[in-house]
Amino acid sequence: PTKLRVSQALSGADLGANVKVQGWVRSVRPQKANVFLHVNDGSSLQPLQVVAGAELNDPLLTFGSAVEVTGSLKKSPHKKQPVELEADQITVIGECNPVDFPFKIKERHGLEYIRQFPHLRCRTNAFSSLLRIRSEATTAVHSYFRENDFVQIHTPIITSNDCEGAGELFQVEPSGPEIVEDEYFFSVPAFLTVSGQLHLEVISGAFSRVYTFGPTFRAENSQSRRHLAEFYMVEAEISFTESIEDLTKVMEDMFKSATEHVLAHCVEDVDLFHKHVTPGHRVSMLKCFILSTLRITYTEAVDILNRSSEKFTFPTDWGCDLKTEHEKYLVKHCGNAPVFVTDYPYDLKPFYARDNQDHPERTAAAVDLLVPGVGELCGGSLREERLDLLSARLEEYLDLRRFGSVPHGGFGLGFERYLQCILGVDNIKDVIPFPRFSHSCLL
Ligand code: 4AD
Ligand code: MG
Repeated sequence: PTKLRVSQALSGADLGANVKVQGWVRSVRPQKANVFLHVNDGSSLQPLQVVAGAELNDPLLTFGSAVEVTGSLKKSPHKKQPVELEADQITVIGECNPVDFPFKIKERHGLEYIRQFPHLRCRTNAFSSLLRIRSEATTAVHSYFRENDFVQIHTPIITSNDCEGAGELFQVEPSGPEIVEDEYFFSVPAFLTVSGQLHLEVISGAFSRVYTFGPTFRAENSQSRRHLAEFYMVEAEISFTESIEDLTKVMEDMFKSATEHVLAHCVEDVDLFHKHVTPGHRVSMLKCFILSTLRITYTEAVDILNRSSEKFTFPTDWGCDLKTEHEKYLVKHCGNAPVFVTDYPYDLKPFYARDNQDHPERTAAAVDLLVPGVGELCGGSLREERLDLLSARLEEYLDLRRFGSVPHGGFGLGFERYLQCILGVDNIKDVIPFPRFSHSCLL
């Protein structure tokens, strides 16, 4: 028999063929003459229906057990499943005691419940859909950049810089004896990267349009539903960029084209989310996706906050950092749609952000994209390319400006927050296979 994935079997291309399918049992329905099984192997949301004579029934055929079925593919009399597998042999490869198995047949378990079982949640419909969507969204991001002439750069995971200057670094040293000062493995303190931006800036000085998409690490203490200690970031850097408008165009374009790709390639999986896991989210997601994104300045944002009747916990005067509560309010105020906030106070942004010298207030040419349910999805800026305006404290960074320095800018998009945004998932821990956050590094 030909070995087939469930998705291949369901495609109908092999009707009549003698095939072998391996997977995990999703349901068992014994009847007088027959037993019906649903088998899944992660290749599609829809399981393959297996029909077998009652003599093939086995008490070990339980929800969650692993099986190998051989038989022939037949057209199914049921509309819902075009194809079924008429079995002539069923072998239980891995038993699964239904009493101990944390998921129960026919029950729809919530994301919070399944999160307790990081080694098993990929067996649920919701999480397997999420993983397929995550994979397709990754492809979508790469396709966008390829189609738009960006070169992918593998920026290092281990680095000696703290790009964001926020001091949320994980230090890297060999395990074993205590670290002795002056005996660093790399001769200097080294860390897991918080952002590939500085390395992208280097290469953008020769390649114009570059991007990276990899893991980044931050020792965030917060237990929030939008922060992880390890997350994936999509970062782009574009040379000869002179306005924030140029940058927001790329950010918006990438967001929309990736989402379009996901919607076109993951119809069933996205549907499962929007219908059952996060019901009611589809409309707000489509809004993000179809509308042209509003642009307001930080100064306008602060005005909006100050004119509202809402009682905020944190201050809202000019110069204040925009907190989650402020971001939420701004998104709501803008019709529950995404909004770009530009031109933040200079002092709020990292050293690399470009000084807007022509503004009455001291602002930087920086932009954040705020989206419903998540808040900040992307952060970007024009970079300070003028040597004389950069402070002397970062000799290394200055050297990047000495040889053919051009106006440039870039941004970073939190990939998990992106998935939260399009799927309506409340907690970031539910959109990454193995979440890492303070006091938790399971598996
Ligand atoms: O705003 P951030 O800190 O910007 C940078 O790191 C820039 N160097 C990027 C660049 O311009 N190349 O991070 C970018 C995005 C945020 O908008 C957010 O979506 C996400 O990364 N992010 C996190 N996502 C999950 N967990 C965390 N702890 C995150 N911190 C930032
Ligand atoms: Mg930011």
